[in-house]
Amino acid sequence: GELIKWEGKTDEVFSTISSSEDYKPTKLGTVPHMDKETALEVLKSACDAYAKGQGDWPTMKVADRIACMEAFVSKMKEQRELVVKYIMWEIGKSLPDSRKEFDRTVEYIIDTIEDYKQLDHDSAKFHKKEGVYAHIRRGPLGVVLCLGPYNYPLNETFALLIPALMMGNTVVFKPAKHGVLLLSPLLEAFRSSFPKGVVNVIYGRGREVAAPIMQTGRIDVLALIGNSKSAIALQDQHPYKNRLRLVLGLEAKNPGIILPDADLDLTVEECISGTLSFNGQRCTALKMLYVHDDIREEFLKRFAKRVDELKFGNPWEDGVMLTPLPEPGKPAYIQELIDDAKFKGAQIINERGGETTDNYIFPAVLFPVTDDMRVYEEEQFGPVIPVKPFNSIEDLLDEIADSNYGQQVSLFGNDIKELAPLIDTLVNLVCRVNLNSSCQRGPDVFPFTGRKDSAVGTLSVHDALRSFSIRTFVASKDK
Ligand code: G3H
Repeated sequence: GELIKWEGKTDEVFSTISSSEDYKPTKLGTVPHMDKETALEVLKSACDAYAKGQGDWPTMKVADRIACMEAFVSKMKEQRELVVKYIMWEIGKSLPDSRKEFDRTVEYIIDTIEDYKQLDHDSAKFHKKEGVYAHIRRGPLGVVLCLGPYNYPLNETFALLIPALMMGNTVVFKPAKHGVLLLSPLLEAFRSSFPKGVVNVIYGRGREVAAPIMQTGRIDVLALIGNSKSAIALQDQHPYKNRLRLVLGLEAKNPGIILPDADLDLTVEECISGTLSFNGQRCTALKMLYVHDDIREEFLKRFAKRVDELKFGNPWEDGVMLTPLPEPGKPAYIQELIDDAKFKGAQIINERGGETTDNYIFPAVLFPVTDDMRVYEEEQFGPVIPVKPFNSIEDLLDEIADSNYGQQVSLFGNDIKELAPLIDTLVNLVCRVNLNSSCQRGPDVFPFTGRKDSAVGTLSVHDALRSFSIRTFVASKDK
């Protein structure tokens, strides 16, 4: 509720980027170092505010709840430049993309308010069937634990938090490990816009703060964007599994399929942004390219050349696409994937691939990648691009069907007769087929989800309001 006056132990937060020539992270500030006891107090605040569905927030009138959300978004907008700076310094996202993340989040909240207004709130409206009058409404689920990822620390944390709040739930949220300070300028806006205890924050290690909260059995919804390992570990802590609702955005290994008649200029550019926007640290990134044998030589030549032209630098510099990586172990991990692939027969086909600095490794295009390589199996979430040749589209479809993931596909080609049946098959294997364009989550009004290990529930403005609520009704009978 108080979001947050802290006099206890703190953790230092360092930047991902450095303003000095010799790489040295800058201290940006501190955040509370919470322990189990504090986390449980925070949970109590959320439970008290929910008050078994009788709290001010879950019972608040539609117009009043909207007013709170509108007050919040208008205060949030005042913090734009500060939050953008934190995004840039904490996770190394380019200045234009950091601004985009902020603006997109504001737009997301405004669209959520609009969509919420469209829900059937009219208490005078009844549905009648077989002599039963039903007054159906949409209500909250309870107390929600939200955990966002480091690659969209503002936007994706809010993509969970905002719809959960809008539907009358109370929330405990945990910022990502990298991208934690950027939420500080917004805490006062939360505190002054919502009733006490409705929005609550926990800081610290998942094991020390999120796990004990789950162990109480008092979390009704686990909402997480991140990796399956954390999602499973947290679910396992909950003593009453069937009571727990899940809203999860997880890993993906989205394939880009390049057919013989693809427009190569367009395909190369889309594959560049698809694989390397924010250094490939996006769940929607193209993480495998499948190129048809008939076009592969030309594609690889052009693609490798374009990758080598990309500029690495600080996020505020003009024209920079590649920026420092926030996870200290990431360059070494990417190097391991490269070494494994090379050992098993792939080559780096671009000249600069694998060049390293202290906190970066230049994107490596690996060819030919085979099923036994780690880079084929693992979600790299970083600057390495595996390319696999193919000849038979049937075999490729089998491969996609056998994958553990099912978020999106990009399909590059022009023969509509050939594309149509392929599209029909692919939409039953993934949840979005992108024609001649790279994969992406937005626009945020369209459904964002995945099959298999990629997601549980749907996140989009419209769908998220439904994911965080339940339809209930009051029934009466004809006399
Ligand atoms: O990391 C996963 C994000 O949902 C990617 O979103 O496609 O808008 O970059 P994006």
